Amino acid sequence: MSDPKIPKLYHRDTPHWQQAQREQFWQLNEGKSSPFDTSPDKLEALAESSLSVNGRLYAQSNAGLMWTHLANRQAFYRHRLIPHQLVDVNERSTATTLFGHKVSAPIGFAPIGINKIYHPKAELPVAKVAGELRLPYALSTAGSSSIEDVAASNDEGRQSGRAVNVEGAKNDEPVRFFQLYLPHDDELAVSLMQRAVDSGFTACILTTDTWQLGFRHPDIHTSNYAFYRGIGADLGLTDPVFQQRLREAGIDPKKQPEEAGAMWIDNVWHGRAFSWEKIPGVMAKWKELSGGKPFCIKGIQSVSDAQHCVSLGIDGIVVSNHAGRQVDGAVASLDALEDIIDAGIGSKLTVMYDSGVRGAADVMKALCLGAKFVWIGRLWVWGLSVMGEEGVRHIMRNLLAEFDIMMLTAGVNSVDDLTRDRLWSGPRSYPLIAEKAKL
Ligand code: GLV
Repeated sequence: MSDPKIPKLYHRDTPHWQQAQREQFWQLNEGKSSPFDTSPDKLEALAESSLSVNGRLYAQSNAGLMWTHLANRQAFYRHRLIPHQLVDVNERSTATTLFGHKVSAPIGFAPIGINKIYHPKAELPVAKVAGELRLPYALSTAGSSSIEDVAASNDEGRQSGRAVNVEGAKNDEPVRFFQLYLPHDDELAVSLMQRAVDSGFTACILTTDTWQLGFRHPDIHTSNYAFYRGIGADLGLTDPVFQQRLREAGIDPKKQPEEAGAMWIDNVWHGRAFSWEKIPGVMAKWKELSGGKPFCIKGIQSVSDAQHCVSLGIDGIVVSNHAGRQVDGAVASLDALEDIIDAGIGSKLTVMYDSGVRGAADVMKALCLGAKFVWIGRLWVWGLSVMGEEGVRHIMRNLLAEFDIMMLTAGVNSVDDLTRDRLWSGPRSYPLIAEKAKL
């Protein structure tokens, strides 16, 4: 097993994440055990058994017959990594740079709303662990904590004794993204962006695939919509413009939590589409408020939409199908990524990836296909559900250890080495059986 002297023998600019494996093998000698098995299928099952029915159903939710979720998983299987041997990777780096920020790995915490249904501390432990690990964190507008509290928790992690060291990173600067669901109330939209700027968020990601939640049978059947039960509207309830709207409507959130929660979420997932004409103004407002910080769009799946983003001067896109939760029967997000990269978009703006990622190999495949950065969602949701802060830390540290060990075993010295020629790609036919793809 890995030599404990390794950290002294080799200079690396990122932590020796690999040592987490050794620590877990050794710990039995000290009467300790690891909190849970981080195999995604086992972790998902554990999360399901720890959650309330509503939490479980919402975490599992996918649109319609779940074909898009299946396609997301199948597409990963179509690509296989090609390991290289006898490469000196002893001083390898897992770091990358995103919008000028050096971060510890090309992995971020995707924006996922209403963490309160997974854990009473909601988004706070997640943002804290992201800060500790020096990984970008993205807060959803549908988050169930205030923007200010999430920022403070992210800073707490970044400044804590547990924070990892990444050489060359500006450790005094946060790297956090505010994911915007755009309300039709312009004053409210500006207020949300202003709060994000005031709380030190370093970029805005506008999600364009969720004017309304996709059609998810089990949630609909069970009326599983926490906001309508008066749970999770905290981000809205702490907004001065939204508070004013509540007063105008004569709604007291303390006495009428269901009405207040409904009014909030009906502003967020309002069911009314915007079109491209709206984008320049929103981006200009974000740039004006933030002093020019990056503005990105999440939900891009077609080459023409990616080209549209280039022509509007958008800083980055997240190639995402919302993890299969919005449009059923859609193209796999990984296939969309390949098409978008083949169209030359990667040299014109920052292309990020999300949807269906379950392990380090998936992260590597998306990077080999040309993504600059990969966002992870369900893995940390499950970790949070099972064990709060410790659960998020455990799953993410193991993911980083897996990524680091795969760099070692596949002969990859830096994230830039993950190029297309390191992948074997089969034809676009999907042999992976549904049972296996379910993960
Ligand atoms: C919201 O973003 C959801 O997918 O439920």
